[in-house]
Amino acid sequence: MAQLIDGRKWAAVSRAETAQSVAMLVQKGITPGLAVILVGDNPASESYVRGKEKAAREVGITSQLIRLPVETTETELLHWIDLLNRDPLCHGILVQLPLPDHIAAERVIEAISPAKDVDGFHTQNIGALSVGLPAIVPCTPLGVMKLLAYESVPIAGAHAVIIGRSNIVGKPMASLLLAQSATVTICHSKTHDLASITRQADILVAAVGRPKMVTGDMIKPGAVVIDVGINRTDEGLVGDVDFASASTVAAAITPVPRGVGPMTIAMLLHNTVTAALRT
Ligand code: GUN
Repeated sequence: MAQLIDGRKWAAVSRAETAQSVAMLVQKGITPGLAVILVGDNPASESYVRGKEKAAREVGITSQLIRLPVETTETELLHWIDLLNRDPLCHGILVQLPLPDHIAAERVIEAISPAKDVDGFHTQNIGALSVGLPAIVPCTPLGVMKLLAYESVPIAGAHAVIIGRSNIVGKPMASLLLAQSATVTICHSKTHDLASITRQADILVAAVGRPKMVTGDMIKPGAVVIDVGINRTDEGLVGDVDFASASTVAAAITPVPRGVGPMTIAMLLHNTVTAALRT
């Protein structure tokens, strides 16, 4: 049976480190401030945003939730971002995605000051990450790297296979693993014979958003399996990995829930403190 990678435990360790950095900053007269903008009333977004706010407060970050109605125009949203960009008490800005269809997410993200872009979604941060310059790194892939580090998983020379090519997870995940000298393969919906590639993975990261699509027969014995999926199904929250079959083959595996999810929030707090430190 695979060893369980306990994201909830490691997220608590990471939040404790962040709380120490916050205390140091507060002594210098800087209280890190996070602004979260939620447009509309998507229930999943509501729940994520509440989790982010609570976690921020617990480490001493001032968190401000700006709730805007679903009919908010792009111009109005850009106006809010402009205000926050210029607010010296606000160090981090997060616009919860998805946005309503009439708002272009890419224009909104580009309007956020890169120094306050605690999601790491701005092209300036993505570009900096991909060339190895200091960057704010997207929370979920950063959380995966932290988990691998806490669990002492060797990365240099390992074959890391990522399923999913999103801007939020797959692509930055590839940059981070490559920066630590993994051999990286990105698979996606057009990949031929997916299983033949995933079976070569020493580290397998599933970030596709399809419940239980990665089964035990797709995993190399002894691999480390990281499940980024959060799928709401009739049986509750399930990952992209079929835990029952995967855990009989893998050496170590993250569960869903209590795997990568808590690390994502912990990394948002980490990024907010990083942004505040640079002011
Ligand atoms: N919606 C789902 N995940 C995320 C995230 O990491 N950041 C933002 N802003 N929205 C999300």
